[in-house]
Amino acid sequence: MRLPDFPWDHLVSFKEKARAHPYGLVDLSVGTPVDATPQVVRHALAGSADAPGYPLTAGTPDLREAAAGWLARRLGVVVEPSAVLPVLGTKELVAQLPAQLGLEPGDRVWVPTPAYPTYEVGALLARCEPVVGPAEGVTMVWLNSPGNPTGRVLSVEEMRAVVNWARERGVIVASDECYIELGWEARAVSVLHPDVCGGSHEGLLAVHSLSKRSNLAGYRAGFVTGDPELVDGLLQIRKHSGLMMPTPVQAATTAALADDMHVADQRARYANRRAVLAAALAVAGFTIDHSEAGLYLWATRGEDCWVTVDALSSVGVLVAPGSFYGESGRRHVRVALTAPDAQIATVPERMTMLPMAGGQNAQSGRPGQYGAGAGDGWAQGPATGGYPQPPQPAHARQDSYQDAYPPENYQPENYPPESYQPDRYGTGDAAHTGGHRVAGSAGPAGAFDHDHRYRADQPAPRPYETGQQPLPPYSTGQQPLPPYSTGQQPLPPYATGQQPLPPYDTGQQPLPPYDTGPSHVPQYRPAAAAEADVTAGTPGPGNPDGSGGPADHNGARGWRAEPDIR
Ligand SMILES: Cc1ncc(COP(=O)(O)O)c(C=O)c1O
Repeated sequence: MRLPDFPWDHLVSFKEKARAHPYGLVDLSVGTPVDATPQVVRHALAGSADAPGYPLTAGTPDLREAAAGWLARRLGVVVEPSAVLPVLGTKELVAQLPAQLGLEPGDRVWVPTPAYPTYEVGALLARCEPVVGPAEGVTMVWLNSPGNPTGRVLSVEEMRAVVNWARERGVIVASDECYIELGWEARAVSVLHPDVCGGSHEGLLAVHSLSKRSNLAGYRAGFVTGDPELVDGLLQIRKHSGLMMPTPVQAATTAALADDMHVADQRARYANRRAVLAAALAVAGFTIDHSEAGLYLWATRGEDCWVTVDALSSVGVLVAPGSFYGESGRRHVRVALTAPDAQIATVPERMTMLPMAGGQNAQSGRPGQYGAGAGDGWAQGPATGGYPQPPQPAHARQDSYQDAYPPENYQPENYPPESYQPDRYGTGDAAHTGGHRVAGSAGPAGAFDHDHRYRADQPAPRPYETGQQPLPPYSTGQQPLPPYSTGQQPLPPYATGQQPLPPYDTGQQPLPPYDTGPSHVPQYRPAAAAEADVTAGTPGPGNPDGSGGPADHNGARGWRAEPDIR
């Protein structure tokens, strides 16, 4: 089996170059959260630290109920708590789902493009063939809305079209919904919502990660839910495999799912960063495509992504090349919103120093007007634009697996939008508004145009004209974040880990006397009682082995005569 190269290794030299910038590195490549894990979650984790026994693979009842409650409250999705199954971060599940669902070698898995690479990996691990469209032989489909890397939101009709297509053929639909609470210009809908699935979850699975929503990537927490039969099948396999979420993480996950406030805070942070970055990129000549939801800006200067990666690294900004996500991403870069505010604040100024795009650079692969250090990679061959080109992922070599099925393929032809309510989901109504300003933007004017491309010169509509759903006040970024969620206040002493552990936790204190042997026991006893020991035949200073006392019902004397005192 040939898996794609692990792509991040190819960014190492660009990271070094970015780090060498006098302002330092702003790492916007990996979408790894940088803000504090919410206190409510940390306390739950600490409170469940005493966990001597094995956890349940199925999760505690509290966890399952918290997940079901969150689905109902936030997504309008109703599931039985018994249809919730915790996973150890969703990447683990994504990489194993085709195998755990029992797909056969040679089956085809329909994955989006460009896409999170693990959908392809999961198919390959099960010896299935990844394809990017509704091909013959497909037995499972991945949906991802909001999408990584594009931030694209699928409309209700698009989702429903895929579900209907799959149901007609008995194909399983798995929907990765890890960015579903990070909608900016559009709000994504779950595959399990009645508007998409008609109220039946048969053949459907939704996968939810807590990593981004709750800054919990280090805990490895997520869950899968949907068709109870499919979930039960996964449970049986995962029980055999020992894929149990640790007890403290289960408690933390439960607390995270029960609390919406920290998610609102986190949204506000991302909205602000997104506004700053989108404006800075637009001023620097980037076009931003899609990006109406999620954790990334999908940006292009119309050149090979590695040229852009190199240019940005020369001003200390590291981004992910779009080719990590498939050939169709090769002229974009993915810009994550996951750097601390103080670093994001330096990006607009860095962009004023960004080497220009275009000219010979993109077309001929010759060095152009790039800044200091930009020549480093140019010697590596004009055919590749002079940039080190990672080996093509496995799918890039398969004719059927590349641009053959662009995302437009999700467009349903035979599904009239009778019940579609454009103000509730998706991107369908965006064109009617004349463009969207970046949510929460307090920066320079700019807007998303009809094609969801951010343009600095687009007149920014007033906020109440922009979106389908009004942004809640907490996402305007104007009011200070409540102190309990800033992570700046000192932790209460019991959570710092600095105070000495109480003696009963150190394991260093002597074992209690009743475990050290009979000779210690009498020390507890007053002299008068010791006297009585002799008379009664109980072991004691005057009668160490308990002999002479009355026999128990087995005829034994001494300790065994008084088992109930231990
Ligand atoms: C689309 C998508 N799915 C799944 C994951 C995996 O998330 P985790 O394993 O942290 O739950 C990621 C992580 O970046 C992602 O972008």
